[in-house]
Amino acid sequence: MLKGKKIVIAITGSIAAYKIPFLIRLLVKEGADIQVIMTPAATDFVTPLTLSTLSQRPVIIDPFTSGTGEWNNHVELGQWADAMIFAPVTANTLGKMVNGIADNFVITAYLSAKCPVFIAPAMDLDMYGHPSTQNNIRLLKSFGNFIIEPQVGELASGLTGPGRLEEPEKILQIVSNHFIHKQDFTKKKILITAGPTYEKIDPVRFIGNFSTGQMGFSLAHEAAERGATVTLVSGPTSLEISNPNIHRVDVESTDEMYARCISFGPDSDIIIMAAAVADYSVVLQHRTKIKKSTAPLCLELKPTIDILKELGVAKTENQILVGFALETENEIENANQKLETKNLDFIILNSLNDNGAGFGLATNKITILNGNGIVHQGVLKTKQEVASDILDVILKK
Ligand code: CTP
Repeated sequence: MLKGKKIVIAITGSIAAYKIPFLIRLLVKEGADIQVIMTPAATDFVTPLTLSTLSQRPVIIDPFTSGTGEWNNHVELGQWADAMIFAPVTANTLGKMVNGIADNFVITAYLSAKCPVFIAPAMDLDMYGHPSTQNNIRLLKSFGNFIIEPQVGELASGLTGPGRLEEPEKILQIVSNHFIHKQDFTKKKILITAGPTYEKIDPVRFIGNFSTGQMGFSLAHEAAERGATVTLVSGPTSLEISNPNIHRVDVESTDEMYARCISFGPDSDIIIMAAAVADYSVVLQHRTKIKKSTAPLCLELKPTIDILKELGVAKTENQILVGFALETENEIENANQKLETKNLDFIILNSLNDNGAGFGLATNKITILNGNGIVHQGVLKTKQEVASDILDVILKK
């Protein structure tokens, strides 16, 4: 997967630099072409001679090769590289990267990068946990860099906690994964909804459902890995996102989700409505907690707005609109009806009668229909694989 890929490895002054020769060996074995660059402080931890021998190229440390009048061109390096891996990265370098303090060759190369940048921090646990470091990591993520989170374990200080540089094998896997994904959704803007919506009854209770958001998050992740710019509008969920190409917007109620979808919808090439939207909300939301009583309690409910139907009304000619149908009976008939009434290009049918498919499970089994009938009949797969199948079907259109 990495054969012929040009990769810059940037090393900074951390004890974890001893792992980098192993990383270089693994990358070279995969056929990658490596250029090592390092900060002056990094040379105290691992020798340029070891690194240049393993990478078969001279290591670049200074912007100028001293005594020769020769300039090491960071801009050229930025254009040459298919990927840059910054590992290990100290708290000091994280701060410089965030603020563009280009006082060494490593930072000038970072600022010149035109390729995916992977940043693997390594430091002592208190430095790592400090709000400054965490804020820098958050900002670097928001700039579109991929953070390879440090692991929890024994640290050079003797303390145990988060801060250990990720193992070379794992770094290799993360970088390879990036290249495995076809970049067939580049330049596509995709709006995806996920999770349940909650309709408040009173300040402590709500109407909701068992959706955990996994299917929508898998779709968002897969689309982003394949190059799309994703807006993920999510109802309440404990799931996290890791891809910098996903812009996450958290909402609670159907009305909030509707407002966000209507605002992002017009700018989207593809909209996938994977959220399990609550169908009803209470007519009268209590401002104070409803007290328990022995008498039965009646709640008057009113239908929520059908977000997908509204998106179907607003749909433009070049837009692709995809909905989900969760059914327990007359599956195909009901799905077809939703496809038509909501003006969809595709509907993804989920049957709760299929074992292994449904809320909170890691797997799913889907059938995809368009106006002409079934276009994809899936088997039970992980939600990530199902997400990939869905995107393949959309791409064909
Ligand atoms: N949907 C929506 N807004 C709602 C209800 C549903 O946008 N208020 C969307 C869902 O996200 C899904 C599709 O419509 O993509 C179908 O949802 P589903 O719950 O299967 O069907 P409903 O239209 O709610 O009808 P029913 O519950 O009667 O099957």
